[in-house]
Amino acid sequence: MDRQPELTGKIMKLKKERNAVILAHNYQLGEIQDIADFVGDSLDLSQKAAKTDAAVIVFCGVHFMAETASILCPDKTVLLPDEHAGCPMANMITAPQLRDRKKEYPGAPVVCYINSSAAVKAESDICCTSANALGVVESINAGEIIFVPDQYLGHYVSTKTSKKLILWPGFCPTHARIMPENIIKLRHQFPEAKVVVHPECRPDVIALADEVLSTSGMIKFAGREDVNEVIVGTEMGIIHRLNKENPGKKFIPVSEQAICPNMKLITLEKVLWSLEEMSPKVKVAEKVRVKAKAAVDRMLAVGRSA
Ligand code: 13P
Ligand code: SF4
Repeated sequence: MDRQPELTGKIMKLKKERNAVILAHNYQLGEIQDIADFVGDSLDLSQKAAKTDAAVIVFCGVHFMAETASILCPDKTVLLPDEHAGCPMANMITAPQLRDRKKEYPGAPVVCYINSSAAVKAESDICCTSANALGVVESINAGEIIFVPDQYLGHYVSTKTSKKLILWPGFCPTHARIMPENIIKLRHQFPEAKVVVHPECRPDVIALADEVLSTSGMIKFAGREDVNEVIVGTEMGIIHRLNKENPGKKFIPVSEQAICPNMKLITLEKVLWSLEEMSPKVKVAEKVRVKAKAAVDRMLAVGRSA
């Protein structure tokens, strides 16, 4: 029996009673995207969290995203329907490791990718997402910048700026599965298709792309009138939204192995359970939050650049 309509009905009812908003990342399962109030990339979701007047934010994404919502909205209850939904890249650097790096490069400002813990954000001058990394780097009045934790995003930005970026060896295991051979093969099969890839991809993959975009950047690109066929170099979950918003167009995932297991931990059952129990909550300790918020606010002031 298909339990989806029943679960959806219960979630909608409870969401209203709790005065909750459901925010979902573009990589979430289709059924989660379909019940969300808003679906977006990391920057969209931070902007939405900052502005919502709901009392409860149900974050359908991974831990650092829920933490960012908590950093921005300390008075709201932030729920992450599965507390194990983490981001391996965010776990590739800790606050003590970043403090050591800062000692190695005294005076160099720190840009941290939003895929990082609140403690790392608290040690940073400004955050960025894949939608504004170049704009954020360019906004800084310094020639040498520490960039953590994504070495590939950092490398991509360094090819677009004259500033020197000191990189950290972090990476996204899901995007690292996308190989140049995947793109070369699909380009032969679909010669008319445009190739879009996420900047978390390896440099040899980025070198083969027509466009390097955040997930919402890809959604916008796909909606263009002159775009009909796209080879999509990012996590598979985005294909649901691309198809839904662009009937008649063709979207080809670059690799069926590009699945983030953490993003897929969020299910309709867990969303319902989370609203029923008002758990698991994500709350950032006030001392860390205040410092991390300064870095997130500076990023929000820069806005979107890609
Ligand atoms: P964006 O949706 O911000 O492009 O981020 C991709 C990602 O990997 C989030 O974890
Ligand atoms: Fe982290 Fe990569 Fe999953 Fe995004 S896709 S949450 S960067 S592991």
